[in-house]
Order: sequence, then C-alpha cells, then structure tokens
Amino acid sequence: MRSLIPFSILAASAFSSAFVLPSDPAVFSASSEAGVQRLIQISPTETRWATEEQKLELKRQGVNFMDITDHQMLGMQNAVTRSEMGIMKTVEFPEKVMFEDTIKPLLKNLNKDNMKANLEKFTSFYTRYYKSEHGRESSEWLLKRINETADGFADLKLAPFPHHWQQSSIIARIPGKTEKTVVIGAHQDSINLFLPSLLGAPGADDDGSGTVTILEAFRVLVEHLKKTGEKLEQTVEFHWYSAEEGGLLGSQAVFSSYEKQARDVVAMLQQDMTGFVEKTLKAGKPESVGVITDYVDPGLTEFIKKVITEYCDIPYTLTECGYACSDHASASKAGYPSAFVIESKFEDSDDHIHTTEDKIEFLSFDHMLQHAKLTLSLAYELGASNKWSGKGGDEL
Ligand code: BES
Ligand code: ZN
Repeated sequence: MRSLIPFSILAASAFSSAFVLPSDPAVFSASSEAGVQRLIQISPTETRWATEEQKLELKRQGVNFMDITDHQMLGMQNAVTRSEMGIMKTVEFPEKVMFEDTIKPLLKNLNKDNMKANLEKFTSFYTRYYKSEHGRESSEWLLKRINETADGFADLKLAPFPHHWQQSSIIARIPGKTEKTVVIGAHQDSINLFLPSLLGAPGADDDGSGTVTILEAFRVLVEHLKKTGEKLEQTVEFHWYSAEEGGLLGSQAVFSSYEKQARDVVAMLQQDMTGFVEKTLKAGKPESVGVITDYVDPGLTEFIKKVITEYCDIPYTLTECGYACSDHASASKAGYPSAFVIESKFEDSDDHIHTTEDKIEFLSFDHMLQHAKLTLSLAYELGASNKWSGKGGDEL
C-alpha cells in the first residue's frame, strides 16, 4: 500500500489549478453512475461489490484492485485449455542477452528531447480521465503521434482498441515471423482522485512518463527495422491502455480479447512511472530502476534484470507494489507472463500522482532515458530471439 498523504494537503493542491464548472460540456457527468455496483477484486482470492465512489475511496486509501465487472472470466479459457492438455505452461526466457552488437548502437538513437516534447503536449490535456471528452481527445492525439512516429513503416498495424467509455486503448503491432508476441505496455489515462470528472490531472509521471518512454523505444525500433528491412522472429506490440485508473479496465479488455483469440503472448512488460528520482537522491540512495518482484513472472523478471545490467547505465533495485498495481496484472491474470518496472523503490516513488501536481517539473528525462533503454533492449532481445521458434517449442 502507498503511504498516505493527508487529504487536506492533497485537496488544497488539487484545487490549485483552474476549476472547470460542471456545466463544461467537455466534462462527463458521473451522476448517472451513482449507486451502481461494480465487482472488484482486491486479492487473488477476494472480490467484493463497490460503487464508483467507493472505488475512488479505496484508491485514496492505497488499496489496489481490479474492476472485474466486465471480464469476470479473464484467464479461465487459458487455464481450462492447459488443464485439458495436462500441461503447465511456463515460458522459458533466454539464459543471457544475445544481441549486444545490434542493440548498443541503437541505444544512442534514443532521444530525451522527443520524450520531453511528447510529454509536454500529453500533459497539456486538462485531464486524461478515461470517462471524459478530454480523455478521448488525448487518446486521439496519441494515436496520431504514434502514426507520425512510425513515419510510413509499411509493416505496422496501428489501431485504436475501442471501449464502452470515451477513451480508446491503442495497439501498435510489428508483425514478426511468428505469431508469438512480446508486449510492451504503459497506460495513457490519468486521474485526479478527488473529483475525477471536474479536476485537472496532468498525469506527467502516472503514466505520461511510461507512455512517452515506450513511444521513444518504439520510434528507434521502427527506424531500425525500416532501415535494415529486418523482420523480427516474434511479433512485437506496443500497447497504450485506457482506464488503468478505473481498475485496469482497458488492459483487461485487451487481454480478454487476446485470450478469446488464443493469442500467444510470451512476455509483457509494463512501464508505469518512469521519471521521478528526487526522493531516491535526497535519501542518498543510488538512482536505479525499480524491478517489481511481487505478482510478476519470475523468469521474465530475471531476464529483465540481466537486460538492465547489460544495457542501462544505472543498476536495478528490487521492490514490491502489491496486488493489481498496474496493467501487467491483467496480462498475468489472462495467463501471460508479465513484469513491471518503476522509477525507484516503491517507497521513493512520486507522491504527486493522482493530483493536479503530477507535473513534468518534478521529473528527470535522464532517468526516463534509462527506462527507454531497457524497453528497447528487451523488445529487441525477446523479439529477435529464436528461443521460441524451435520445433515443439520449449514453453510447454
Ligand atoms: N502508477 C500507479 C501504481 C503505482 C503507484 C506504481 C506508485 C508505483 C508507485 C497506478 O496508475 C495506479 O494508480 N494504480 C492503482 C491501482 C489500480 C488497479 C486501480 C493504485 O495504486 O491506486
Ligand atoms: Zn495511477
């Protein structure tokens, strides 16, 4: 659970920016949802009913949950298939990194200025709350930006993944020689936990930072593939989820659809909060990548540690985030191996999140660059590996 900041301090900061009157047509009215019960999961074994207001209260108290109302069967199909076949699916990851000669020169092409320009625009939306017109507009801008970034890459399949709320998720697919898929994720929505439909939420760190981090890695990967004509072994997808803040709603919809289509996702890495290092440095600790060790796939996480050691200029530190802390939990519930990295140890992460104060000025683009290095390296290492292409596979 996150350390709690007194409500009065947060509320004061939450009101410090321009106040939008409820009559603003761009703001969604939450009143139609009052009293509607949602089913939420707060641990692998506990579910309960909660209204939208109770969900917000849980988040303010630092209780993580998945809102499973729309996807109560997530993971069932994969679990049944495996038990019918009498198999335990454990994906095996490479023992060591393999592609230093290709990846190291590519890392030099990652550019902090792109991340900064993208984040400046992305945080200029009043909020990216998933149930708002602003959230729809920020998603439309992001889709356009991803398309511009791909700059005519013919192989790319880029599409919004619509939901029954305003903001779509987005999927950029780079087809490989096989259907086995490596997913790199971040969430595009932001939230102001006090009055999400009224108050601003720049969401610079949570998760504008992850959004622009993976976009920059995507840019350099695509540029490389265009230039060389190389086709990766695995399909690599970049996902920008909507409605993470509503209880992982967008990512559950995406992975539930993948499960129904029997899509073979071999790895998923979530980047959520990649830019805040102030607290770590003030505490006299070394700047590091926080590798989450709870509710993640141990094999993938081990490989990510190796990737950080090889390709990043800073070390990793191990930390925990609790149940359903971000969208990797949806992948893992669907039966896909997933991992999660954050900007620091959990206790040194950004306290401004979910308020009007989650601003760029508190973030380090040098640190974000380290996360972009990790993202690009992992995408290439797992994308180019022929580990999974042998006959019979070694994943079952
Ligand atoms: N980015 C946060 C999770 C987080 C917080 C990671 C602090 C590392 C440090 C994420 O967007 C979030 O807010 N998650 C929710 C849980 C969600 C399932 C409703 C939360 O922590 O309240
Ligand atoms: Zn959040």
